[in-house]
Amino acid sequence: MEPRRRVLSGMQPTGELHVGNWLGALRNMAALSVDPAFEALFCVVDAHAITVDYDPKELPNRVVDTVAIYVAGGIDPAHSTLFLQSDVPEHMELTWYLICVTPMGDLNRMTQFKDKSEQHKNNVNAGLFAYPVLMTADILLYRAEVVPVGDDQVQHLELAREICRRFNARFGPIFPEPKPRLSRTPRILGLDGKAKMSKSLGNTIGMLDPAPVVEKKLKGAFTDPAKLRKGDPGRPEICNIFTMHQALSPPDRVAAVDRDCRSGALGCGDCKKALADVMNAELDPIRAKAAELRSDKKRVLEILRDGGSRARSIATATMKDVRSAMGLTTAGR
Ligand code: ADP
Ligand code: TRP
Repeated sequence: MEPRRRVLSGMQPTGELHVGNWLGALRNMAALSVDPAFEALFCVVDAHAITVDYDPKELPNRVVDTVAIYVAGGIDPAHSTLFLQSDVPEHMELTWYLICVTPMGDLNRMTQFKDKSEQHKNNVNAGLFAYPVLMTADILLYRAEVVPVGDDQVQHLELAREICRRFNARFGPIFPEPKPRLSRTPRILGLDGKAKMSKSLGNTIGMLDPAPVVEKKLKGAFTDPAKLRKGDPGRPEICNIFTMHQALSPPDRVAAVDRDCRSGALGCGDCKKALADVMNAELDPIRAKAAELRSDKKRVLEILRDGGSRARSIATATMKDVRSAMGLTTAGR
């Protein structure tokens, strides 16, 4: 039997994931978690979360909330390894080793660093700069080959591949090269249509927003600015509502939306209402399951404990190979 290829992805414990996280990454992660061809590991990246200002008292609650949404969103903890990054200290150790083969110039080109240092002007710390190396360590530590993410992470993945090649060229073939796995809709725009949907931009639909809030937010969302009223022809290719239909509506419905938007027969109000209906139908069971898990903290901690011990055993084995390849070994270990 072919060995199963490893999948790894991570999300920050922001507490409440949004529709961009869901349609860009989480749904792919959930599908891979039950695919027998893959062994999936999913990490809540709390060590990434501390690169910006945060509340240490609140962070553990945000972790629990994030695990609840992971599982409610379809990641099956019985078939995958769901763990907390800081429970596996080897992430931090490997990060340091990888930093030492990463040129400053490569990190300087990262657009997320530029954006985040603009947003957090009074706290541009070295961790924020090294953030993509920690992400690389998350992946390489498990020798993962497939990384489900949204398209804003593709630049980080390119850097991860470059670091991987440099490390292997210098110390021997320790790591396979990871590749991003994008969903059909890898970039969901925010409600204002100006930038990607992002927690830090306040332009999101939360996965746990109640159904009427989802409907209301969609009602006010950006569409093709040239389509002012029903009857005007629209351009689905520039419309975020159409992108979300592509992610959520059945193919015949998507084809009908495309045709009727272009002809003008379908107005934006009806199109948004139809989207709200399919979105809420999918989110209803997710919201219910997330609420159940959020109130069962013991269960969530059990999932993380199990996942942490599986993740640590893989990490321990990888780090033995890494230290030995790098000459960081003594007879005593
Ligand atoms: P945020 O930008 O809201 O802080 P994260 O950076 O924590 O979100 O993203 C977690 C995952 O969700 C990553 O794989 C990222 O690529 C994906 N993702 C985030 N926002 C979007 C979006 N608007 N469209 C598609 N995927 C997204
Ligand atoms: N950097 C990712 C983000 O901002 C989160 C992340 C951390 C990640 N480690 C990862 C994603 C490993 C994929 C694989 O969204």
